Amino acid sequence: MSQLFDQRKTVRKYTDQVVSQELILEVLKDAQKAPSWANSQPWEVYVATGEVLERLRKANLAAYDSKEAKDDKDMPKPGQWPDYLQERMNSAYAKLFAQSGIDRDDVQAREENWRNNYQFFNAPVAMFICLDRELSEWSTLDAGIYAGNLMLAATQHGLGTSPAASSVAYPHILREVLEIPDQQRIIVGIMMGYEDKDHFYNRSVSARLPLEENIHFKGI
Ligand SMILES: Cc1cc2nc3c(=O)[nH]c(=O)nc-3n(C[C@H](O)[C@H](O)[C@H](O)COP(=O)(O)O)c2cc1C
Repeated sequence: MSQLFDQRKTVRKYTDQVVSQELILEVLKDAQKAPSWANSQPWEVYVATGEVLERLRKANLAAYDSKEAKDDKDMPKPGQWPDYLQERMNSAYAKLFAQSGIDRDDVQAREENWRNNYQFFNAPVAMFICLDRELSEWSTLDAGIYAGNLMLAATQHGLGTSPAASSVAYPHILREVLEIPDQQRIIVGIMMGYEDKDHFYNRSVSARLPLEENIHFKGI
């Protein structure tokens, strides 16, 4: 496996080290090379750092702590996942918690883990990928390819990233603080910064299926 793909992983705790503006721009320039339908490049990306991000973090955590209802209208989750995928996700969660040293029955540790999500994992950079409401699933695919490029570009530049559905659970806060127009759907947030390598949240290593399980070879 090539090093870049091996190195990228979801980081769930960052150090306080600031990411320079030059480096953020380098990553964004690389990510911008993502392919898209007829080179439409439909993604609109809102990058939050510094004081703006701290405002966002505070409001997001307050919404979580006050048990505000989450809003996934821009990116609805399936009502029910197919059984085989639900099982796969359950075992991934169990492994993630076990490797991070979070006991299944430790309610407080599990709660802290969720609060960490709603604080954007302490990341110094948060990027929110948006799309015009008029677009179709083809453009959502483009946004996903863009997100993949963004994370690999960051890895290449020595930075950690976290794609996080949890980061867009309160879209009204993102809209207000980042001035995202209603015409834009908020697709996903990608956090970025320097990995806190000593933190137990970053101990987990995710596994992948053997190719035979979900790649369907025909004729080779
Ligand atoms: C669209 C998307 C949303 C995700 N949302 C979250 C999230 O809210 N919280 C979290 O801790 N991880 C989240 N993840 C990270 C996945 O759990 C992670 O990618 C997966 O377990 C594989 O691990 P790896 O990224 O370390 O290889 C998300 C990943 C994707 C692609």
